[in-house]
Amino acid sequence: MAGKNWDRVPIDAQSIDAPLSSAAVFLVVTVANEQSAIAKICSTLGELDDLIKNVGFRDLSARLSCIVGIGSDLWDRLSSDKRPQELKPFAPIAGAVHAAPSTPGDLLFHIRSERADLCFELERILLDSLGNSVTVVDEVSGFRYFDARDLLGFVDGTANPTGYDLPAAAIVGDEDAGFAGGSYVVVQKYLHDLGAWAQTPTPLQEAIIGRTKIDNIEIDDDAAPRKSHKSLATIVDAGGIEHDILRDNMPFGRPGQREFGTYFIGYSRRLWVIEKMLQRMYVGDPPGAYDRLLDFSTPHTGTTFFAPTRPTLQALVQAAQAKPKVP
Ligand code: HEM
Repeated sequence: MAGKNWDRVPIDAQSIDAPLSSAAVFLVVTVANEQSAIAKICSTLGELDDLIKNVGFRDLSARLSCIVGIGSDLWDRLSSDKRPQELKPFAPIAGAVHAAPSTPGDLLFHIRSERADLCFELERILLDSLGNSVTVVDEVSGFRYFDARDLLGFVDGTANPTGYDLPAAAIVGDEDAGFAGGSYVVVQKYLHDLGAWAQTPTPLQEAIIGRTKIDNIEIDDDAAPRKSHKSLATIVDAGGIEHDILRDNMPFGRPGQREFGTYFIGYSRRLWVIEKMLQRMYVGDPPGAYDRLLDFSTPHTGTTFFAPTRPTLQALVQAAQAKPKVP
């Protein structure tokens, strides 16, 4: 995986380590109750590779990629036997001041490209193919903002794992051999209060994030009275090992509606690592000392998925298609 040559395009479906992009679409749908809806989504997912190629081949330099994540309930409907060890619905969190809701979602499509029109086109074709077997519950078009800054003005994504550290953090290994190569995906759609943020002095903003704003240097806040976002999101286990995740957050917004957001997406080899980050952000460390980023950022969604490898996805949909139909 590390050292992969991304000049070889189109990019395979389910490439967790596909390159970061200038544009992205985050599409979350639920699947209707009828058995015919399962048949429909299986036939679309069965053709996913071709659908990506049909759009992606039209401009290879735009590096179109797409990852499908499957939610816990849908997983049970598709497969009665094997499931990823940690897969479960997003657990809502109620901190003393801020809460993270859990919202529905059976399928996530994470579409990335250098061109927004390719993201749009793949989303359009996917939804056309899925037809009324699905209901769109959330749809966000994200864009890269200047030097990878979020709308709060901070460079977002710097501490992401790279090289061999990337699969070690983001890709399931031998600990769950049947699902090795896949990844747990958690998404949350945040809306920001940019007015209140603008009233916050830059040194305080930097203490909240844990990095300097202009030049993106990490701030050592070990001795600070309150931990920063980056420190609360740093997970070290009892053996002193740090556990990272792979993030590809994107800004989105509609200034005319005063809507300014960050779409958080995290890929992890272990779901518990993201859950622990969220606990530390919302409950705080020590409890009460929550992440002050949340005073300016409110989550409107929260959903967990598992993104299997291409072969596992294909095997899953083929097995579901072969299952005897319940009358
Ligand atoms: C409003 C939503 C969010 C914004 C605007 C945001 C922004 C940032 C920024 C600016 C950084 C510092 C630069 C970097 O390393 O990327 C950062 C670090 C990080 N964030 Fe977030 N973040 C958000 C939500 C989350 C959530 C929900 C999680 C986890 C569940 C998370 C996990 C992390 C991690 C793991 C780091 C790196 C920590 C380290 O330095 O090792 N973030 N975030």
